[in-house]
Amino acid sequence: MTKEEEQKKLVGEKAALYVKSNMIIGLGTGSTAYYATLKIGELYKNGIIENINCIPSSIHTENLAKELGLPLTDFNLHQEIDITIDGADEIDESLNLIKGGGGALLREKVIAQASKRLIIVADESKLSEKLGTKWAVPIEVIPFAVGVETKYLQSLGAKVELRKNKNGEIYITDENNFILDSDFGVIKNPGQLEFLLNRRAGIVENGMFIGLTNRVIAIKNNELLELT
Ligand code: A5P
Repeated sequence: MTKEEEQKKLVGEKAALYVKSNMIIGLGTGSTAYYATLKIGELYKNGIIENINCIPSSIHTENLAKELGLPLTDFNLHQEIDITIDGADEIDESLNLIKGGGGALLREKVIAQASKRLIIVADESKLSEKLGTKWAVPIEVIPFAVGVETKYLQSLGAKVELRKNKNGEIYITDENNFILDSDFGVIKNPGQLEFLLNRRAGIVENGMFIGLTNRVIAIKNNELLELT
């Protein structure tokens, strides 16, 4: 296992310990949240936590949860999530995030907004002084509006790239939309950018997660730290 993988496992498993019996749990997507989901599966299988119900943030995570035998629910049955554990692509000092590297930003944000507590798990590479230093912002758009929203994002100063799969085909999200990876450079005012992105009809959601995170469990200088 690489050092990065070890860090992901460490933070994921640590976060899973916040899950208790009788909770509704949001399951994140990505290679770090994966370890939290595995650990939750283990705690449930061993009877250490009981009577839980999970809402996965992607079809990928849903399949994993099914393999682990985790009980699933949805927003028709439960509208409030007690705790969500998810990853992030970039995290600033105010615990604002860029998410969506794995393409699940829309469901992830629905889940984050419905959660009483959002715990973000991250290896060392994710911590950043300012959002936009390391990552472009993934922006989910309806296929009909790709051209016009690309022009809008460019007018805000972004370099825009339509996300493609390795085989060159356009990447399609779980909700059948496209993603425009939009590089704004260092983002001086994340709240304002989020506002400007939320104004557009063709933009379904964006990867700026502002003011949603309660706790970050991450690695810095080889030490596990918890930021609140
Ligand atoms: C999924 O859409 C993303 O938001 C992930 O949570 C994010 O990309 C972090 O993924 P990794 O844990 O794989 O780096």
